[in-house]
Amino acid sequence: MNTTAKILTFDSGLGGLTVHAEILRACPGADHVYVADDAAFPYGHLGEEALVDRVMALMGELIAAHRPNIVVIACNTASTLVLPHLRAAWPQLPFVGTVPAVKPAAEQSHTHLISVLATPGTVARDYTRDLVRAYAAHCEVTLVGSQHLATLAEAYMRGEMVDDLQVAAEIMPCFVERDGQRTDHVVLACTHYPLLLDAFRQLAPWSVDWVDPAPAIARRVQHVLGEHSFSFAHHERMREGFAHFTSGAPIPFALTNALRARHLAPAG
Ligand code: DGL
Repeated sequence: MNTTAKILTFDSGLGGLTVHAEILRACPGADHVYVADDAAFPYGHLGEEALVDRVMALMGELIAAHRPNIVVIACNTASTLVLPHLRAAWPQLPFVGTVPAVKPAAEQSHTHLISVLATPGTVARDYTRDLVRAYAAHCEVTLVGSQHLATLAEAYMRGEMVDDLQVAAEIMPCFVERDGQRTDHVVLACTHYPLLLDAFRQLAPWSVDWVDPAPAIARRVQHVLGEHSFSFAHHERMREGFAHFTSGAPIPFALTNALRARHLAPAG
């Protein structure tokens, strides 16, 4: 009998829930722990050194407390910077990251105009620029560093009103027209953004493919767990996981419901 996998999914806030939902679908028989470092949110505005220090220190505590079999960094802003440090510090523990899905967008684009919508941190990373050079040299790639979208997504999940005009202003730079062609793919390169996808679709000046890497990340998690012979697929009933918040702030009713819908209970 294989050991049941314990999966720790980590983000600066609630964005990682978009990845957790796909992992839950792919690995319903695993134990799930979700951690939001909301005390340090938003990561997209932190300097690189501060972000490395923050994630490394916190991850040490989380690994000791939860003893996961795999860690999913469900945050582009952290993954594009911290993954090599994490893998060097814990070589026996598999880490799965979330990085901008530039390659599939560039492969699927017909107009060769693609945009990457991300935090200011992610668009500034060497890692992101290397991805563009390696996989999208045949495309014109517009990197859009959004100042407010992650915060707007947090507000939405907490049941607060989100202003459509503000959302529209954040996504508008993704839409480019050149020589009669238009952007046809927008990479959602921050895990918070799929939480606002309905609004994006409504507010977009024309229809595009929004590329969300979460299903691919879930497949990667399945693959890595399989390689390590952990069990994750079979279940009699979906286990309830736990969601931890580093700030310890009270959790509004709307958020408790959003967590429950994803089989997570707020940890006391
Ligand atoms: N969810 C995170 C990401 O994927 C970023 C949000 C933040 O700025 O903290 O990049």
